[in-house]
Amino acid sequence: FSIGEEEKGDEFQELLLALPQQRNRNGSTSLYLYQGFWCPSEATLKAIISFQRHFQAQETDLILASSPKSGTTWLKALAFMIVNRARCALNESPLLTTSPQELVPTIEFDLYMRSQCPNLEDLPCPRILSTHIPFASLPGSIKDSKCRIVYVCRNPFDQFVSYWHFLLHLPHENVEPLSLDESFELFCKGVHAFGPFWDHVSGFWKASLERPDKVLFFKYEDMKADIIFHIKRLAEFLGLPFSEEEGKKGVIEEISRLCSFETLKDLEVNKYGKQVYGTPNSAFFRKGKVGDWANHLTPAMAECLKKLIEGKFGASGLTF
Ligand code: A3P
Repeated sequence: FSIGEEEKGDEFQELLLALPQQRNRNGSTSLYLYQGFWCPSEATLKAIISFQRHFQAQETDLILASSPKSGTTWLKALAFMIVNRARCALNESPLLTTSPQELVPTIEFDLYMRSQCPNLEDLPCPRILSTHIPFASLPGSIKDSKCRIVYVCRNPFDQFVSYWHFLLHLPHENVEPLSLDESFELFCKGVHAFGPFWDHVSGFWKASLERPDKVLFFKYEDMKADIIFHIKRLAEFLGLPFSEEEGKKGVIEEISRLCSFETLKDLEVNKYGKQVYGTPNSAFFRKGKVGDWANHLTPAMAECLKKLIEGKFGASGLTF
């Protein structure tokens, strides 16, 4: 697929036809296998290609990366608060009236889906943006520039359950949503948005080991266990460590409280607001717990996924 042409027309249609596809029950396509990952919808694929071609990273950019349903919303809120803490009082933060999805746009959905070449130069500096694209498929300027990447991953059991619930909120256009069993089978084959899970996580994990100054790797469960430590770590990674005075004033604890599941879930904007593409903001706040998978997966399903994951991650040093 050559560079520089419009991301539509014959060439794009040819690409679509050449890509392996996962189909819905009614025969429509639900996912395209592009550069080794499953891309949700034709419109998303178009947006991703525009992103890959046109995005120019700035050294000050902060890119939040994740596989969907890994804790992206939480990371967005935390990063926004840490970066902007000096700009306004915490109790007057835009986070109290604006969804984290809006404060930190997802590049492929919120920017390049609307326009092939969105004007990103005017975004406030540092730009905080998020993406679900695997590391290998990120635009060269993100990988090669000094901009920073923070990745959050989640144990695949909870991520899968969260993903399955989230899919129920998306518009289905007369297609009956997949049952938990059907979705699980596909997840174990790596067939889910931006999957396979193991490739996604491994790509960022390796990058974080090779370039720890560029890629910071978080686990949702570790954040749950000690969020104060992770807020400090994130601030230090961004070159914005908390001062002694901020520590004494309890700024870190206040950021932790404002970004907590309980606070965000109960805000008016997150209870009743909607994304521009229609998804209710409340869909991003379900239970926010570690281990909810046990209420949904049978012991046999859990054992099967456990073995699969152990095999995939082997000696990588990553465990879930
Ligand atoms: P559950 O469906 O298990 O509740 P993402 O933000 O990547 O879409 O992930 C969504 C998951 O993160 C959901 O998990 C959601 O409830 C949880 N979540 C959202 N905000 C959170 C927060 N502030 N703290 C902890 N978990 C949060």
